Amino acid sequence: MAIPYPLARLGELLSGLNPKDAFLYSPIQGRPKARQLWHEKLVKEDARMESIGLPVVTAGICHAISMGAELFFSPGDTLFLPDLYWDNYEQIFGIRLEGRIERYPFYSPDLSSFNVEGLRHSLAQTTGKIHVLLDFPSNPSGYSPTPEEMKAIAEVLVQAAASRTVVVYCDDAYHGLVFEKTATSKSLFFELIGRHPNLIPLKCDGITKELSFFGGRVGFLTFGTSVAASEILVDKSKSLIRSGIGSPVGISQYLMEEELMDARHDESFESMREILERRYRILKNALSKPTEQWTVYPFNAGCFCLLKLREGLDAEDIRQRLITEESVGVVNHSDRHLRLAFCSLKEEVIEPLVEALERVCGNRK
Ligand SMILES: Cc1ncc(COP(=O)(O)O)c(C=O)c1O
Repeated sequence: MAIPYPLARLGELLSGLNPKDAFLYSPIQGRPKARQLWHEKLVKEDARMESIGLPVVTAGICHAISMGAELFFSPGDTLFLPDLYWDNYEQIFGIRLEGRIERYPFYSPDLSSFNVEGLRHSLAQTTGKIHVLLDFPSNPSGYSPTPEEMKAIAEVLVQAAASRTVVVYCDDAYHGLVFEKTATSKSLFFELIGRHPNLIPLKCDGITKELSFFGGRVGFLTFGTSVAASEILVDKSKSLIRSGIGSPVGISQYLMEEELMDARHDESFESMREILERRYRILKNALSKPTEQWTVYPFNAGCFCLLKLREGLDAEDIRQRLITEESVGVVNHSDRHLRLAFCSLKEEVIEPLVEALERVCGNRK
């Protein structure tokens, strides 16, 4: 076992930690305790996790998705995405892995729910192996399905797997940040465990948002297969990790273990969720006033909400004007959508932001 030799300032800064935890390499697949504790956390969320093997540790959630894709996705394969999605998926599957991306409308035609029928219809358009990625709560829509919708989504995926391989990437980055009783806080992954031999669910999650530890770079990739198959896939992941990042960050895994084992953890997470919920409610209220400038898409979870600007408005133009005329920053999504990140807005600036947006939109013909 290597003996750490902390240099002076690092030693001072990390003096409260065991130097072996702070300075040494992590095993390639992750620290045993980190993997075990994350698995236990998932078993607590849903007992179906008991039949699933330990996850492999990744350098954040994006790395978990891209490693899952490297294992299962071949150039020319097709990924099905709703039309509102985190743009990094395009980088991973479209640009890096040279795949095709098929999109279907995220919301049902009456804008009341996730578009389960749209997903079904879209998957039915192709034959052969497919990949499906879903993130709930969603970035950028801030939507989490009801438990019934989640079951219906799972049913569509199980049916699609009747005649071909279906790989499902469940991106659970915003897990637990749910603000309405009607929205599920459970992962789609749980609904897919053991449902069909052709169905390969992958769970991609981590500490980035759930532990509010963005720079910690600890994610997890869990294989929803038999434990024996999962162990083989963890082994394959080890060669990808070794040939890519070398090994995952050890000290962040150690810090995560300590946070998860701390008696205050659940309460501490709940305090963070409540801060976000207060911002969510203020934003919901501010957006409930009638306006001709935009339509608000349903949102109930996560960190964001999405507005569809009225005909004639260009999202990039409005974004620029908000900066120059009102000193406010928002993110545009395609040419008609603006994403408001209530996670980054103090309570007192939320209403003024919506008013500023209305002024800027109202000034454009
Ligand atoms: C939907 C979604 N998945 C994954 C991530 C990335 O997580 P990480 O920073 O752990 O790679 C983000 C970050 O913004 C995200 O919005």
